[in-house]
Amino acid sequence: MERIMVIGAGQMGSGIAQVCAQAGYEVTLNDLKAEFVERGLGVIKKNLSRQVDKGKMTAEELDKVLGRITASNDLQDAKSVDLVIEAAVENMDIKTKIFAQLDEIAPEHTILASNTSSLPITEIAAATNRPEKVIGMHFMNPVPVMKLVEIIRGLATADEVYQTIEDITEKIGKVPVEVNDFPGFVANRILMPMINEAIYTLYEGVASKEDIDSVMKLGMNHPMGPLTLADFIGLDTCLYIMETLYEGFGDPKYRPCPLLRKYVKAGWLGKKSGRGFYVYE
Ligand SMILES: NC(=O)c1ccc[n+]([C@@H]2O[C@H](COP(=O)([O-])OP(=O)(O)OC[C@H]3O[C@@H](n4cnc5c(N)ncnc54)[C@H](O)[C@@H]3O)[C@@H](O)[C@H]2O)c1
Repeated sequence: MERIMVIGAGQMGSGIAQVCAQAGYEVTLNDLKAEFVERGLGVIKKNLSRQVDKGKMTAEELDKVLGRITASNDLQDAKSVDLVIEAAVENMDIKTKIFAQLDEIAPEHTILASNTSSLPITEIAAATNRPEKVIGMHFMNPVPVMKLVEIIRGLATADEVYQTIEDITEKIGKVPVEVNDFPGFVANRILMPMINEAIYTLYEGVASKEDIDSVMKLGMNHPMGPLTLADFIGLDTCLYIMETLYEGFGDPKYRPCPLLRKYVKAGWLGKKSGRGFYVYE
């Protein structure tokens, strides 16, 4: 395993490309347009420059890491890689299309991984003729900082493929946790219902948003209150994951709070749109 392709140069894809290049892998960073890849590369450069400023990395090392990342706007570039990590948008149609194309283009030995936060790996794998080589690699945001990677086994994922991905995860300095393919995996199955319950608590007028966040920060030692965290993740993403849990389990305990739906319909998506539970400048 030497060459890794990352699909999607957004907040997750650029972070994944960065940590892979820092670990010595040759990385191809792909997105739909050159300007999207440029934006991702800009974020990586800024992150690494901060490390140089802090004395954690030399300017020479920075150049070496950046030199390992090649920009791409063509999925055909998958023909020369050993592993693809897909981090495009959270949408099943888009992901299955990408995986079906990658299956045609990539060499037989190439492993196809998805960074999906909630979509079934087994369903993504079924869009290919190599379901045994399809696996989930769920990184946390921000990727360069957060240690965890949930590794999700699809129904058909081969043991040696799991092992290879576990080894790579450790090589890039992360801690792998093995998870089976069920809605929300482990992280979002536990986190999202807590956030959704915090939104219900606000909706029912039990306490103010600031007080709900204070209870969880000061009482449970969470670094961030659940409503602040929801704004940071994106309220559309939170709603999407709650719907995946609700549909996937068919259990009413996962019903998304009407207030969450209302905010998303209003375009109040959290930090990225300037307004969610809180207002951002
Ligand atoms: N944001 C998070 O906290 C988080 C955490 C873990 C996992 N994820 C998952 O990671 C994935 C990416 O999320 P993000 O937050 O980086 O989104 P983002 O919107 O920042 O980036 C997505 C990128 O994918 C690109 N893209 C879309 N379709 C493409 C295609 N067909 N080919 C190539 N590139 C394409 C877009 O142009 C965009 O640059 C999603 O599946 C998401 O669920 C997100």
